[in-house]
Amino acid sequence: MVCKLYLVFIFSCVHLIFLSSQQETRFVYNGFDQADLYSNGIARVLPGGLLQLTNATDFQMGHAFFKQPFDFDPSSSLSFYTHFVCALVPPTLGADGGSGIVFVVSPSMDLSHADTGQFLGVFSNGTSSSSSHLLAIELDAVYSIALDELKSPHVGIDVNSPISVESALPSYFSNTLRKNESINLLSGKPIQVWVDYDGSLLNVSLAPMEVQKPNLPLMSRAMNLSEIFQEKMYVGFSASTGNLVSNQYVLGWSFSGGKELLQTLDLSKLPPVPLPSGERNILSPPLIGLVILLVILVLMVLVGVYWYRGKKYSEVKESWEKEYGPHRFSYKSLYKATNGFCKDGRVGKGGFGEVYKGTLPLSRHIAVKRLSHDAEQGMKQFVAEVVTMGNLEHRNLVPLLGYCRRKGELLLVSEYMPNGSLDQYLFPSQNLSLTWLQRISILKDIASALSYLHTGTKQVVLHRDIKASNVMLDSEFNGRLGDFGMAKFHNHGANLSATAAVGTIGYMAPELTTMGTSTKTDVYAFGVFLLEVTCGRRPVEPELPAEKQYLVKWVSECWKQASLLETRDPRLGRDFTSEEVEMVLKLGLLCTNAMPESRPVMRQVVQFLNRDLPLPEFLLDGPGIGAFMPVSMEASSSIGVPILRNSSISLFVTHTILDGHGR
Ligand SMILES: *[C@@H]1O[C@H](CO)[C@@H](O)[C@H](O)[C@H]1NC(C)=O
Ligand SMILES: *[C@@H]1O[C@H](CO)[C@@H](O)[C@H](O)[C@H]1NC(C)=O
Ligand SMILES: *[C@@H]1O[C@H](CO)[C@@H](O)[C@H](O)[C@H]1NC(C)=O
Ligand SMILES: *[C@@H]1O[C@H](CO)[C@@H](O)[C@H](O)[C@H]1NC(C)=O
Ligand SMILES: *[C@@H]1O[C@H](CO)[C@@H](O)[C@H](O)[C@H]1NC(C)=O
Repeated sequence: MVCKLYLVFIFSCVHLIFLSSQQETRFVYNGFDQADLYSNGIARVLPGGLLQLTNATDFQMGHAFFKQPFDFDPSSSLSFYTHFVCALVPPTLGADGGSGIVFVVSPSMDLSHADTGQFLGVFSNGTSSSSSHLLAIELDAVYSIALDELKSPHVGIDVNSPISVESALPSYFSNTLRKNESINLLSGKPIQVWVDYDGSLLNVSLAPMEVQKPNLPLMSRAMNLSEIFQEKMYVGFSASTGNLVSNQYVLGWSFSGGKELLQTLDLSKLPPVPLPSGERNILSPPLIGLVILLVILVLMVLVGVYWYRGKKYSEVKESWEKEYGPHRFSYKSLYKATNGFCKDGRVGKGGFGEVYKGTLPLSRHIAVKRLSHDAEQGMKQFVAEVVTMGNLEHRNLVPLLGYCRRKGELLLVSEYMPNGSLDQYLFPSQNLSLTWLQRISILKDIASALSYLHTGTKQVVLHRDIKASNVMLDSEFNGRLGDFGMAKFHNHGANLSATAAVGTIGYMAPELTTMGTSTKTDVYAFGVFLLEVTCGRRPVEPELPAEKQYLVKWVSECWKQASLLETRDPRLGRDFTSEEVEMVLKLGLLCTNAMPESRPVMRQVVQFLNRDLPLPEFLLDGPGIGAFMPVSMEASSSIGVPILRNSSISLFVTHTILDGHGR
């Protein structure tokens, strides 16, 4: 003390008397732990030394005063200097908060009569009298119309009234940038405030913590405080909340009556400002845990989706398939083309699979047949055949575009035939019908296709499942032989007796079970098909009277009774040539001769149909004609359903892929 007095003496002998009286009110608080403060309202010093003037409760106020009054001598020049650090922390950062903090010089420490909210705990509603002797420097966070304030948070100098005599938007002059920088009062960050009064000018400056005192004050106002102050004045702080609330703190405070006596605040020793609970939670360990958990969850979902997509589109691909690359479709492309194999796009359903219509990019229409298979055995051979099939070129074949393999599933892609399968037009249960001209044309188409398969390619291709439901109609009603699900390839001249007996009941040649597949069995099936198309009925119809049940037998019986034409489809009307219908019926009987060697070959059949060759005379009573012997299949399922059965002399196992158009 003595030393400091001595210093003061050197500085100003003239002021010595006042200084000695004013030096009592010279203090610095780096935190208020040890401070001797008078507080009321909800103000309190928190553990750690933070002076909390208000918490976030609405319509509250808090005051804290330095207990010793400041002796101002009105007759002599008076001055004071103060530097404090405060913070306004709204409940959520970035939100509005209220109402504000005030540095106040007051004749009394009791401001309990004051009002909250915009009156800042210092002034009262309605009392604006010069007798209140109040000076307040406000950091006002709330705009009040009633008080004609600036439209946003502001800093103001108030004398006896909440209506500021001077106010400014919170900003500071940056000494380094040499320009004004604005300050957000409600950022929650500590703000330094200086109030300097030298007896004539009152300067107010603001600055963020990290910044030196600005060279230029925010406000500088000429005032004669001797006219306002009384002899004993108290210095302190007030804060209030209204509708809007904030936690309002003072962190440190230095005060002195003389400029040189002002002790510097040690900013590093100031207590920390608690962040609003909402903000603190974001950084709190439980929340961090939660965030991590969420991230992990999202990652897991992503991995799951990825895995699911991988599985959803997963395929079976083996190295030997490389050479068939161009014929291989990705499951994803088929999935997209068929709209996820949606039921609306299903155009056929059978015992062994389903057929979906699909559209590839460039509006190419395809039919996708999904077959279930579980035998990997023979798959290589089958795929090879599928691909070979894709290379077959004949205008009366349904072009096979390619395939795709998945676990337990095989997908065959062919061109889409807009008019569906022939069987839809043949049987009386259907409303659609075809004229004789259309029918004979389709028969010629299929005969031509079959002839091509038997003799026109490098290998002999046996279709093995000729029937109306495997004949498709393109947009011009041309017949197209499709569904090679059971087709078999072999070299010309090879013996095929050892192949499995496959086919559909009613279309299977009697020798199939004993002698196996051959071009002759295809001819037999084609013969049945000829009768089927001409008579408009299925080869076997158990509901009909016994004599009519078997189509082949019935037609030959009718011929015997000279009523061959009666067997024709009544829906043909009159629009047909009798000779042609008779010829086709007879050809059907010729092809279904029980003795394979008596059947014509497909090339001849084509010639007969085109009337390039007359039908050979053959005796009705000749061996094998009309002798329908249903192929007995102990394992046979319902009639018309394709059958796969290895004959007893089968030496190798064929692939177990079967056609799915069973009816
Ligand atoms: C604010 O402080 C008062 C008095 O200390 C207390 O009763 C109240 O619960 C506090 N409110 C909040 C929101 O902390
Ligand atoms: C101030 O007092 C007037 C009349 O006494 C009243 O109408 C007004 O609502 C009061 N304002 C506040 C903010 O309390
Ligand atoms: C900075 O703000 C003060 C007070 O509002 C004003 O007087 C001064 O002209 C401003 N200075 C600059 C460089 O904008
Ligand atoms: C107030 O600021 C002005 C500059 O604007 C300066 O000249 C004056 O000395 C300052 N007064 C005090 C008491 O700091
Ligand atoms: C301030 O007011 C007091 C009392 O009214 C007066 O004595 C003094 O001369 C004034 N000072 C200035 C600088 O105007």
